[in-house]
Amino acid sequence: MYPQTMPRNSWYMAAFRDEITREPFARTIQNIPLVFYRLQDGRAVALLDQCIHRQMPLSLGYIENDNIRCCYHGLVFGPNGQCVEIPSQESVPALAKVQTFQVVEQDGLLWIWIGDPEKADPANIPPCPWLNSPDWVGATGILHMNSRAQLLNENLLDLSHVEFLHPGSIGASKLSSFPITVDADEKSIRVTRIMDDIECPALFKKAMDLPDRIRRTQTAEWFAPGFHVTHIGASPVGADDEDQFRHKALHWVTPETDTSTHYFWALYRNYRLEDDEGLTQMLRDAHHAVFCQDVDACEAIELALQRYGQDSPPYVNIKVDNGSLKSRRQIESMLREENI
Ligand code: FES
Ligand SMILES: [Fe+2]
Repeated sequence: MYPQTMPRNSWYMAAFRDEITREPFARTIQNIPLVFYRLQDGRAVALLDQCIHRQMPLSLGYIENDNIRCCYHGLVFGPNGQCVEIPSQESVPALAKVQTFQVVEQDGLLWIWIGDPEKADPANIPPCPWLNSPDWVGATGILHMNSRAQLLNENLLDLSHVEFLHPGSIGASKLSSFPITVDADEKSIRVTRIMDDIECPALFKKAMDLPDRIRRTQTAEWFAPGFHVTHIGASPVGADDEDQFRHKALHWVTPETDTSTHYFWALYRNYRLEDDEGLTQMLRDAHHAVFCQDVDACEAIELALQRYGQDSPPYVNIKVDNGSLKSRRQIESMLREENI
């Protein structure tokens, strides 16, 4: 069965850079309500979004210099969580401290560590070079999903739903009949499908101006527990450059609660870089629609899972589930390591 909880001793994508400003910003991650804001020097901080006095969300309060003031009785907390002012009294108890969380900004993304602080190593944050490269251009988006995170992890490692869940955009007939290969190491998985001569999907025709039949490649790469790069290549059949047109679809799967998930995504391309905003907007809209179909699927499955609980009717796995099941095993092993 799909794990419902996710490992805690891992970096999770918390926000796109522009979301965090000098205003308090609330987002729940791994069941923990958080408030984010930027200090005067631009650094981002994350605190538990709950005042230690009467549990008012701090995100409803005000930023004052580098501090945050609760909107209820005016207690002020520094970026290290320490209370520095109680307006109704002179002394501030040393224990008056809100929990803080380590955040790291990299490639325009804010990552957070909510597990054991001793184990946090920023070197383990996966790089996303496409977001900053002059050779790539693209768009980003955020979706909210009422389903556990692992359902989306498994969806993204499953290349065979593309034909049936996404017809009219990236789907193509007979796509599922091409074999997949899977390789994995301890904390990552790659699922590849090479389609030497296949119908060109509608979206590729529009964006890449390709003929009816193309060579198409797709590799879904996953870095546990929640970062995916889908490497997509397309070219006319028989072209010298086998992946003339490339997309990198990036997906960050961050648990909000045990049954809801933040789905951050980006779609970058290596062609028509100078093009007007029109192409970027078209690809953004088209991929938003595609990813909404995945969200709808995950939410429908989550409802089914919750309907039956442990007494689910039997289900079968098929060959194309190989990559998805490997990711489930890796998550289960990470949870075991944390005694969850
Ligand atoms: S609840 Fe925050 S100051 Fe009272
Ligand atoms: Fe999909």
